Formats: sequence, structure tokens, C-alpha cells
Amino acid sequence: MDPADPKEGNLPDILQAGSLHEFLQELHDKYGPIASFWRGTQYTISIASPDLFKEQQHVFDRPANLYASLETLLTEKSIQFANGPSARHRRTMLDKYFTADSVATYYGTLHKLSKELSEKWASLPANQHIPLEQHMMALAVKMFLKVAYGFYFNDDRQVLAFKKNYDLAWHELESWVSGTTPEPGSEREKVFLDARDSMFALIEAAMKHREDHAPTSGGGDRLFLDVLRDPDNEMDADVRTADALTYAVGGMHTTGIALTWAIYFLASHEDIQEKLCKELKDQLGDSVMSPQEFSDSSYLRQVIDETLRCAIIGPHAARVQDFDSKLGGHIVPKNTPVIQALGVVMHDEKIWPEPNKFDPERFSSENSKGRSSYAFQPYGFAGKRICPGYRLANAEIGVALSELCRRFKFHLVAGQVVQPVHGLVTRPKDEVWITISKR
Ligand code: HEM
Repeated sequence: MDPADPKEGNLPDILQAGSLHEFLQELHDKYGPIASFWRGTQYTISIASPDLFKEQQHVFDRPANLYASLETLLTEKSIQFANGPSARHRRTMLDKYFTADSVATYYGTLHKLSKELSEKWASLPANQHIPLEQHMMALAVKMFLKVAYGFYFNDDRQVLAFKKNYDLAWHELESWVSGTTPEPGSEREKVFLDARDSMFALIEAAMKHREDHAPTSGGGDRLFLDVLRDPDNEMDADVRTADALTYAVGGMHTTGIALTWAIYFLASHEDIQEKLCKELKDQLGDSVMSPQEFSDSSYLRQVIDETLRCAIIGPHAARVQDFDSKLGGHIVPKNTPVIQALGVVMHDEKIWPEPNKFDPERFSSENSKGRSSYAFQPYGFAGKRICPGYRLANAEIGVALSELCRRFKFHLVAGQVVQPVHGLVTRPKDEVWITISKR
């Protein structure tokens, strides 16, 4: 695509489309699965097909400048901006905390927090309107802080302090993405930086607390904090806190919003909600779900996958290589960012007929036959840099749904128009209001 403006490139087109994701949809509709455009003066390529994704499966490095807005929050030390062999090594080290075996040990905490929420819902008056996103975000923040950072966040006051600062910083970042950056030295910038520093201070306090109350003689679960604190891992203090915040930011909004979309879709599709509830009741009765039962509950997993596909929580990933390479038969000049348009492929109507329709049957084993695995990559796929939290996110969503669906029926409050906004994550434009009735 030719630049619309010599300095701004296609940024005016992106603004006009509403978001980068919507722009990429239009770009690929017009130019096919591999296309180029200009972000300012930066020549950029975007790809949107399973075959092209496959060609990029080995690429690890990420073009840092594409995520510049996140840098003020996470700092340049964050893994988000790290490339090369040392970043690969760091990911391998950090990922140990998110293996299937590790995630299996967090189920107890995930159940406890889901149960607390369902008790709260059970105590609400009939027909009380519930702000769904608010409740799901609060649940996701608690889940992440408790499983990753431990006992320090058993005190709800620390959870609330973290969430308050997180909400402030996130709100500010979202407005930067849509083009309104604060003046240097302005009150707005100060509020943002204070919120960021307060989160760093809470993470430091959790580390100190862990040092003072470390489990003795190998007892107790290993926390993400322990990986960061481990002297064998030789992490500098500023890298450690940057990564601690990066994983928290990566993990809280995405999961809270995914849960919001999941319950919204269930509330608006009663038949699917009933089928899910039946599967969960037949499989679990009144008991809590184990990791094995989660992997056996095929319909629950289909509902989660279809939520991630339909809602496109994280619409794109990106990669870069410091040498000339080939992609789809074209030359990619060295250092050219390549956007992997995950969301465009997850809504490609040749692969997913009626792509906006929520239909978990798309993921039945019968209907998945012959479909490339690259057609559905909500967590990214390339260079072993897939989202490190994907197992944790699936477990959080699975455990919360298994608790809430068996106990309540969800109903949408009438008269709402729920529209997606593709910002840092794809969230509903306005709060989603539901009511519940006990089963
Ligand atoms: C529904 C939930 C989630 C979605 C849809 C999601 C999606 C993504 C995507 C698309 C990427 C980019 C991957 C790539 O570049 O190939 C990513 C990266 C990342 N995610 Fe997630 N994510 C989710 C949950 C989580 C959770 C629970 C955590 C916390 C453990 C997390 C932490 C991160 C981090 C730290 C990165 C950057 C990793 C790096 O730079 O190497 N995410 N996520």
C-alpha cells in the first residue's frame, strides 16, 4: 500500500479504520495474505495465512518499536523488548514456572477465588445488575497476583492497591494507543508514572515478604517470584522488576477480558450455555475440576477456544530479522517488521464461515479435521515465543467457568449493544451488564 502521507505513512488510514487490527483486515481484503504498508516512515509487512505463518514459525526476535507505547510502563529492560540468544535464555528460564505441571499446582487457588466470587454472586438480590467486566477483571487480577506472587497478596488491601494503580496506568496507555499522548512533565504523565512506580513498589514488597517467609526445606509451591529471585538466574534488580510487571500486565487484562467475553457469549447463546452446564455437571457433579478433568472436558475447551477466536483478545504478534529473508516468495529486507495478523486469520471466512458467529462446534474433533493448526493461534506461535501464560490463562478461564456455570444461569440485561474495541486487547466498548439466576 502506498503511504497516504510522506511523514505519517498509512497512520491516517489506521486511524480511519479504527484500529491496527481493522486496518489489517482491510489491507488483506484488498491486497491478499501478504501486504506492506507504512507506519510513519517505517516500511512494514503484514501476513495473514496459515502457510505464511508456518514459514515464520522459527523466528524469535520482536520489533521493539512496534510496542513503543508499552515501554514507558514496562521499561526498556522488559522481556517484551529483549531479543537474541540472551532473551531466548531468559524466556526458557521464566517459562519453567508456567509448565503444565506448575499450572496444575495452582488449581487449588484458582478454585478458591472462583468460589469466593460465586458465593458473592449467590448473596446478591434477585435480578441485581452485575457489571461483568469489572467482576471478571477483579477475579483475574486476584488469580494472577496470588498464584504468581504469593502470600503478600493474601491481604486484599495489597490486591486493591495494585489494581487501582494498574487501572490508572492501563487507562492512560489505552489512550496513548489511540493517539493522545500526555505532554512531558504534565500532570497526566505524573499520574501515570506514579501508578507505575507504585506497582513496582508493591512487587518489591512482595519479593521482600517472600524473602522473609521463604518456604523451608523445599516445602511449599514455587512461585514466579522465586524464579525471579533465584540467585542462580543472575537477574539484575531492574530486569527482575520489569519482568515481574510485564508478566502481570500480560496476564491480567487478557484473562479478565477473555472471561468477560466467554460469559457474554454464553449469556447470549442459551443453548450453548445449557450444553456446557450439562457437560460440567455430568463430568464433575458437585466436585471441583482437576487438571486432568479440564483436559477431558471437551466442550468446555471448545467454548474457550471459540471465545478466543471470536473475540480476538490479542489481535497480532510481530517479528523481525536482522538479515534479508524470503517470505511467500518475496524478499523481506533486513530489519523490516513483519506483523503476524493473528486476528485476521482467526476471522478469515474461507477458514471460518460466518466468522462473527459464536459456535463452539467449529472446534469439535470432527470439524477440526484437515484445518491447519496455524489457523487458530490466539497466543502467537513463532520461535518458541508463544505467550508464556497460555496454560495459566486456559486454566483460569476453565476453573472460573466450571464454578460459575454449574451454579448460575447468565442472562444479558436487555437493550445493550455490545461492540468490540481493538486496543491493546480487544475489549467490549462499554461495560457488559448481566443478571444471574441460581440453578
Ligand atoms: C487469554 C489470555 C491471553 C492471550 C489471548 C494472550 C496473548 C498473547 C499474545 C498473542 C502474545 C504475543 C506472542 C508472540 O509474540 O508470539 C503474548 C505475549 C505475552 N503474554 Fe500473553 N496472552 C494471554 C494471557 C497471558 C497470561 C496469563 C500471562 C502471564 C503469565 C501472559 C504473559 C505474556 C507475556 C509476558 C508475553 C510476552 C512474552 C515475550 O515477550 O517473550 N499472557 N500473549
